[in-house]
Amino acid sequence: METPDEHSDRRGVEAIIEQTGTDIEEGRYPLAITNNPELYRLELRRIFGRAWVYLGHVSEFQEPGDYARRYIGEDPFILTRDEAGELHAFLDSCMHRGAQFCTAESGNTSHFRCPYHGWTYKNDGSLQGMPHMREAYQDLDEDEISLEEACLDTYQGLVFGRIAEEGPSLAEYLGDFTWYLDVLFGTTEAGMTMVGEPHRWESKHDWKTSADNFSGDSYHVLTTHQAGLETENLARGPWEELTDFPGASYLACTERHSVGYYLSEDDETFMGYPDAIADYLNPALTPEQRELFGRSVFHFGTVFPNMSLIHGIQSGGWGGPWACIRKWNPRGPGVTETTSWWFVPREFAGDDAFLADSHRGWESLSPGGAFESDDLTIWEGIADSSGAVTHELRGTRGNMQQGMGAMTDEVETVEDPLHGPAEVTSKGLYFDERNSRTILRAWCGMMRGGTEAETGTGDGSESEADPDPGSEAGVDA
Ligand code: FES
Ligand code: FE
Repeated sequence: METPDEHSDRRGVEAIIEQTGTDIEEGRYPLAITNNPELYRLELRRIFGRAWVYLGHVSEFQEPGDYARRYIGEDPFILTRDEAGELHAFLDSCMHRGAQFCTAESGNTSHFRCPYHGWTYKNDGSLQGMPHMREAYQDLDEDEISLEEACLDTYQGLVFGRIAEEGPSLAEYLGDFTWYLDVLFGTTEAGMTMVGEPHRWESKHDWKTSADNFSGDSYHVLTTHQAGLETENLARGPWEELTDFPGASYLACTERHSVGYYLSEDDETFMGYPDAIADYLNPALTPEQRELFGRSVFHFGTVFPNMSLIHGIQSGGWGGPWACIRKWNPRGPGVTETTSWWFVPREFAGDDAFLADSHRGWESLSPGGAFESDDLTIWEGIADSSGAVTHELRGTRGNMQQGMGAMTDEVETVEDPLHGPAEVTSKGLYFDERNSRTILRAWCGMMRGGTEAETGTGDGSESEADPDPGSEAGVDA
């Protein structure tokens, strides 16, 4: 039973969610949505309980028994390949008393044995047995007991999991964004492979802040990373034209996901990969996707809710090219555990000189690297200030108006086959916040938690109703 205070808190956050849905159409949003404990609890149920959430890459789980701990929201899952070669994601909670049965971050095992009373499960989730089974459980139907399992599906080797048993397929959830994922993770015939172990670190920022930043905030580079620009670490090589990139460079968003591309005029750039990359290209790419990859210097984006990606050259002696997936694991209100994976095209996985260069690129964007500390300082400050009572009581609004008609009369749609299925506007790489608005619309669509009729399905255009990928899930928040 809710206490009067809890009831009032819940009514308060529902009002903030509704206000966000209204504000975002004017390019504003309540700052109180960040680092808000009441909203955070709803996010875990309404977003992470229903969305397809990135869990890992198939290259991490090549052998039967390979496993790793991964999270959907705050729920701990064990992603593993069983003896028959199938991938599963099991909730790390024993079916006897709920104890965690996996104490390592990753490894290889055919069975998981609970440390509390010894119940043992095969890596397909079925119950293998328990101590004193004959004496203690004479009538037990073992076939009825198996671990709780998330829905799983993959695209271009990316493994996604979903807690809700019903809902849109992964293909429906990703929608038109698969066109861009093909260029990001399906460019060579053998595909991408992870190298080493993913890095993890915790910081006091809201998961939404970093998902928004990677969705398309090139604008911040000019200020947050000013030191890097002034020392020319970012200004060499393909970055020389940072402030005057070719017009084809763009930001784009589909229904709920977003991407950005820095492009050169040279269609043999290939992000700085060795020349042999041209021989390894995936024949399944369309001519437009091939040209887009050929001219690419840098890619970034966010798959809602909490997977971001970055791929490209890190010049100025920082190494590269490299590809990285970031996952922003919520670990409490205003606390995020970041997981960072390093990927290379499988064709180059045995090239030590390339790997050394690529690794330096990946490292430069880590807590010990040149740029991460710039961002973390800012993001933690956002969480600290946005949790202010002042913002909640006064309804303070933040701003996301770049690229909206109210800001300029010069925004127009730019047609180019390299843009893929999404709409791209003339405000382009630096001065359009449509990607941020898209992420926030997706947040609203799921946080409203209503029926499909109430929230609409949306097509990502600025004027449409909010997308609600969880509307079919049947999960009552
Ligand atoms: Fe796992 Fe008892 S809680 S065996
Ligand atoms: Fe940054």
